[in-house]
Amino acid sequence: MNLLLLGGGGREHALAWKLRQSPLVASLVVAPGNPGIAALAECVPLEITNPLAVVALARARQIDLVVVGPEAPLVAGVGDALRQAGFDVFGPDAAGARIEGSKAFAKEIMRAANVPTARFELFGDAEAAAKRALAWGPVVVKADGLAAGKGVVVATSGEEAARACRELGALPAGQTILLEEVLTGPELSVMALCDGERFAMLAPSQDHKRVFDGDRGPNTGGMGAYAPANFLDAGQLEQVGREVIAPTLAELRKRGCSFRGVLYAGLMLTPSGPRVLEFNARLGDPETQVLMMQLDCDLVPVLRACARGELQVTVLPQRQGFSVGIVLAAEGYPESPKTGDAIDLPASVPAQAQVFHAGTKRTGTQLVTSGGRVITACAHGATLAEARARAATLAESITWRGRHFRKDIGAGAPSLDLAGG
Ligand code: AMP
Ligand code: GLY
Repeated sequence: MNLLLLGGGGREHALAWKLRQSPLVASLVVAPGNPGIAALAECVPLEITNPLAVVALARARQIDLVVVGPEAPLVAGVGDALRQAGFDVFGPDAAGARIEGSKAFAKEIMRAANVPTARFELFGDAEAAAKRALAWGPVVVKADGLAAGKGVVVATSGEEAARACRELGALPAGQTILLEEVLTGPELSVMALCDGERFAMLAPSQDHKRVFDGDRGPNTGGMGAYAPANFLDAGQLEQVGREVIAPTLAELRKRGCSFRGVLYAGLMLTPSGPRVLEFNARLGDPETQVLMMQLDCDLVPVLRACARGELQVTVLPQRQGFSVGIVLAAEGYPESPKTGDAIDLPASVPAQAQVFHAGTKRTGTQLVTSGGRVITACAHGATLAEARARAATLAESITWRGRHFRKDIGAGAPSLDLAGG
């Protein structure tokens, strides 16, 4: 098969690494890719949010399956255009991607499908939301649209919430404001590979969103992850499939949307069970980097079956043990990441470890930083402690001026070193 993968981050490097291992793959083209991916596949510069450009590339390369990494091409209708042109695509249409693009739409689907989530109210006007917030007291205030991680405020008082309503209301994403019940408990990510109707779950994983150790400092795209996050036990994972994924797919189908791609549920494990905080329409980054290391089967037939609406498997074999991924970030990330610093990579990567590139580029023969999250240092181990130690050793060995990373990825796991897998 000829595969086309869209994207150029750490998630896509990990996907390319996994896809490349399949005996079914004759060629793998990645657009735009990155220098890490270029060691595995042909990278093609392309404006991947331009549906016509993506269709033209897929035609020129006689592509059998397109895998879409990030949300931007999905929201831009790249999935729709490819399917209309007759291609198999792993990634939902724009109508399905709305579940990530609009929190109000996601809540409406959850309400209609009876999916366990926080109680909420919607407002088309920031002033009305602010007034109501005073009555709620402690409450979560959310802007409806994509706001680059700046659209959610967990307010501890009604006054703080009212201020947040006015601030978020001033953002382009804040034309609609949500007030939501404050939930408590550890957060985790559960991703399902969906064929519109059926689905197969990846292992639960946990991201670390704050920039500094101990969950301090501003939010980021994600500073590291581990899998399996098995404080969600097998029964609870199955419950998430039954109470969250299945009814959401059914509700979307009722509205004419056959969701073929990743349904990512950001969950909080509350004292009364798992509750959905948000949905994404794509794989998580950096969760994917560790999930690909844990996956013990060929991913290509699974993605192709999802794209064609003919998924047979419900369980994806996992390796025993744990995988940990530590994100190495550029100086100044997340506020104002510095770019152009020369990166020193170790001459060889130890067994059970992988380096996945994200914000890197080549200037001549020198690898330099070109984004906030630069590299994910990943490792597998028989125990979470072993995986953490290996990933930390690898992270230490990759250097540039001002690089920083968290030392506590996986350290606060609510349940440690139970048998993984
Ligand atoms: P979201 O973009 O909706 O996932 O929200 C971003 C972050 O805000 C989440 O990762 C949580 O840490 C926090 N959050 C969102 N919704 C709630 C809630 N209902 N209760 C408590 N914290 C929340
Ligand atoms: N790691 C969080 C996300 O991909 O949205």
